[in-house]
Amino acid sequence: MQDFQQHLDTIHRDVLKLPNTGNVASYIPELAAVSNSKFGIHLLDIQKNKYAVGDCTERFSIQSISKVLSLSLAMRCINEAVWKRVDVEPSGDPFNHLSLLELEDGIPRNPLINAGAIVIADILVSELENPKADFLSFIRDLANDPSISYDEKVAKSERKTGFKNFAAANLLKSYGNLTNDVEDVLDFYFHQCSLHMNCVQLCDTFYLFINRGKCKRNKTYLNINQIKRINALMLTCGFYDEAGEFAFEVGLPGKSGVGGGIVALLPNNFCVATWSPALNKKGNSARGMAALEHLTTLTELSIF
Ligand code: DON
Repeated sequence: MQDFQQHLDTIHRDVLKLPNTGNVASYIPELAAVSNSKFGIHLLDIQKNKYAVGDCTERFSIQSISKVLSLSLAMRCINEAVWKRVDVEPSGDPFNHLSLLELEDGIPRNPLINAGAIVIADILVSELENPKADFLSFIRDLANDPSISYDEKVAKSERKTGFKNFAAANLLKSYGNLTNDVEDVLDFYFHQCSLHMNCVQLCDTFYLFINRGKCKRNKTYLNINQIKRINALMLTCGFYDEAGEFAFEVGLPGKSGVGGGIVALLPNNFCVATWSPALNKKGNSARGMAALEHLTTLTELSIF
């Protein structure tokens, strides 16, 4: 039996001793206001035991972590038809690059880069009756937590400066891979990225990916095959042009966000969320990656 609490305490202490390298994301102006000294880790095991250290109950902007959740809801809505509009290959490019989109006729490499997540947002805008409200209910149900909400200030802030996402959406539209209006799809996308959650709520939400598609209340949301696909995408594409490095150092499927959060998981075993806002050059939390590398080294638990 692993003593997860002792491991988290050790990791927290050791990682805090390392230089706090990297920068807080500032291309979304509202995110620049967050202190780079925040650092929390939360772990939820398959038996639903919880282990915590540091700033793990403070909420932050989950940003790209939300792409896993929007993909999950899109798969619930149209299942395999998703793959007619987005591919499942790692891009090897930064999260907001557009070059491959033009080379590959408007089919994004995968649903976790921005262009792919915008296609997924388009699917949800078409499929859901009240897209923003329905997506939020889905997250609240998964986490069993009605207090989860969007951060309107962050959504607005990204809308003002999200020129690259407007470019991506327009490019998708020009290739016929966006059904709805660019404005409507991006309004949904900026809201999904603005979800304001803490590490505990992230673990509660992601529990279904370690529990074969069943949430903490034992309700089935996705089948085992769908879970296999989503976990595979997190492993191969969850960290953009650093997916290889994350697999190499940590060895778990996971997803990062420019708010400084990372969620990683070992199916049938545990789910862990870290938060530290200073990002490395690839846009992933530097301390979060270091903490997760320590975790899988200390516990000797990884998918490999
Ligand atoms: O679209 C964007 O640029 C942001 N809303 C999300 C990017 C992000 O979190 C990339 N992850 N590391």
